[in-house]
Amino acid sequence: MPGENGAWTDDGRRPALGPEVGTPLAEAIVDDLPEGRALDLATGEGHVASLLADRGWDVHAVDVSRAMLDRARERRADRSESDGRPGSIDWILADVDSYCFPESVYDVVTIRFFDARDRLGAVKTALAPGGALVYEHHLQSNAAGRSGNQYRFEPNELLDACADLSVRYYAEDPDRSLVRLVAYADRES
Ligand SMILES: C[S@@+](CC[C@H](N)C(=O)[O-])C[C@H]1O[C@@H](n2cnc3c(N)ncnc32)[C@H](O)[C@@H]1O
Repeated sequence: MPGENGAWTDDGRRPALGPEVGTPLAEAIVDDLPEGRALDLATGEGHVASLLADRGWDVHAVDVSRAMLDRARERRADRSESDGRPGSIDWILADVDSYCFPESVYDVVTIRFFDARDRLGAVKTALAPGGALVYEHHLQSNAAGRSGNQYRFEPNELLDACADLSVRYYAEDPDRSLVRLVAYADRES
């Protein structure tokens, strides 16, 4: 169960509340995990995909926009060599709404600033046993207005939607209109 105000729940560790806005939550998670296969949904310019690959992960990075993927490839090509074994990134041009997710494959699925509510069931199925879902998104706010809010989570909505996973971390930050979740699939397949 999640702790109060978004504390880590297994051993009481609580990032302070790292990462800061702009730093992907994935960065705080993957260093504790063995390298594996990752899926970054709606990758945009590939910030999270690149971060994972720098740490040796093999990443499938999906986005519906060809221009975004081109920019992501360029950013990646411009980067200097990473310290560790760089993983690979497959840039996949696809619509998440109709994407055919493989089952039980990914050790980490990252979603940042994208409304994947309608595909959450398939996303969870794509997790390998023990795999982690790392989700950061906007919370509804007065400033977003009614039309903006339809793509944002209501308080506790993401938590409820992931009740069938083992939620390790959940935090809502109303001041920044952000919600963050880390949840794991069962180890048993
Ligand atoms: C706000 S950006 C987030 C980018 C990235 N996740 C990040 O945090 O830097 C949203 C991205 O979602 C992509 N997108 C929007 N609808 C999509 C869909 N149906 N399938 C895949 N990608 C989509 C957009 O092209 C855009 O790159």
